[in-house]
Amino acid sequence: MKHVLITGGAGFIGSNLAIRLVREKGCQVTIYDNLRTGSLANLEEVRHNPLLDFQEGDILDLPKLSDTMKGVDTVFHLAANADVRGGQSNRRIDLDQNTVGTWNVLEACRVNQVARYFFASSATVYGEPDIFPTPETMPLIQTSVYGASKLAGEAMAQAYSEYDDMQVVIFRFVSWTGPSYSHGVVRDFCGKLKQNPGCLHILGDGTQKKSFLDVRDGINGLLHAADHGTGRVQIYNVGHDEWVNVNEVAETVVDALGLTGVQFDYGGGERGWKGDSPLVLLDTTRLKSLGWSAGIGILQSIRDTVQSLKKAGLA
Ligand SMILES: NC(=O)c1ccc[n+]([C@@H]2O[C@H](COP(=O)([O-])OP(=O)(O)OC[C@H]3O[C@@H](n4cnc5c(N)ncnc54)[C@H](O)[C@@H]3O)[C@@H](O)[C@H]2O)c1
Repeated sequence: MKHVLITGGAGFIGSNLAIRLVREKGCQVTIYDNLRTGSLANLEEVRHNPLLDFQEGDILDLPKLSDTMKGVDTVFHLAANADVRGGQSNRRIDLDQNTVGTWNVLEACRVNQVARYFFASSATVYGEPDIFPTPETMPLIQTSVYGASKLAGEAMAQAYSEYDDMQVVIFRFVSWTGPSYSHGVVRDFCGKLKQNPGCLHILGDGTQKKSFLDVRDGINGLLHAADHGTGRVQIYNVGHDEWVNVNEVAETVVDALGLTGVQFDYGGGERGWKGDSPLVLLDTTRLKSLGWSAGIGILQSIRDTVQSLKKAGLA
């Protein structure tokens, strides 16, 4: 990993990865991002480091992407529409941004003979599994267009690996929390409580139970796989051994904001929305066998996330 390109490197996960690659690994890092949901503020710490180069561009612009990828040996493809919920009303966005976008990134890798490709997939590819913790070998039956687009991206990468002898590492993430957090339940709750500190509307019945992972542990996992993983195609679940229900998330957010007497009001039903996976707990034995483990508790990470949202004026 001498010269790494991160698509979506100005986003939540990408910026945390870029900072670690520059600071700890001394890699030359090129970020390719259209700033749709990302921000240069996330990269402030390394913005003027000579190892970091930011290129504003869209992964759907294949000529520009290929040109920017010249001389790159490793690609972390994180750019995507990361909003799982929106796919029911907008059936096109995941196809364009995630499926076609991923194909473009793979094409640019092929043209530039990139040696290693890392892909941000998601626990959503498991849909509603019936084994917990869910192993990587679980059959994949889709319940959301977002999940389907991630699965298409995984499959496409596997085929490119076969044709072009490129190493492919696929990560299936649970929901991440921590510094620079951009979207998800903690941000939703903070936003709602900012508007109305007396009442919190919760999607579903609050008993949905999910695993979360702090971004600092998550990046450790990605770097562990990069350093120790072997095999032409590798697939790793990236998550925590713990899971918490949505009510516990809500109580932790309320507490971290210093609020009292907040009423919870429920949308009802087992799922937050159609396509939501109500139970998420991944078996991370495979990644742990490389020597990685999560060290930050879920509730602690949620508290840290609330503090970082407060600092950013979002809570
Ligand atoms: N955050 C999570 O909990 C989570 C869970 C599972 C999977 N993932 C996946 O991890 C990746 C990173 O997620 P994140 O939470 O950092 O999201 P994010 O929205 O914070 O970051 C995505 C980045 O990609 C950029 N981007 C989006 N579309 C682009 C395009 N067409 N061209 C160029 N850049 C574009 C955005 O500007 C942003 O900087 C995504 O692929 C997401 O689907 C995230």
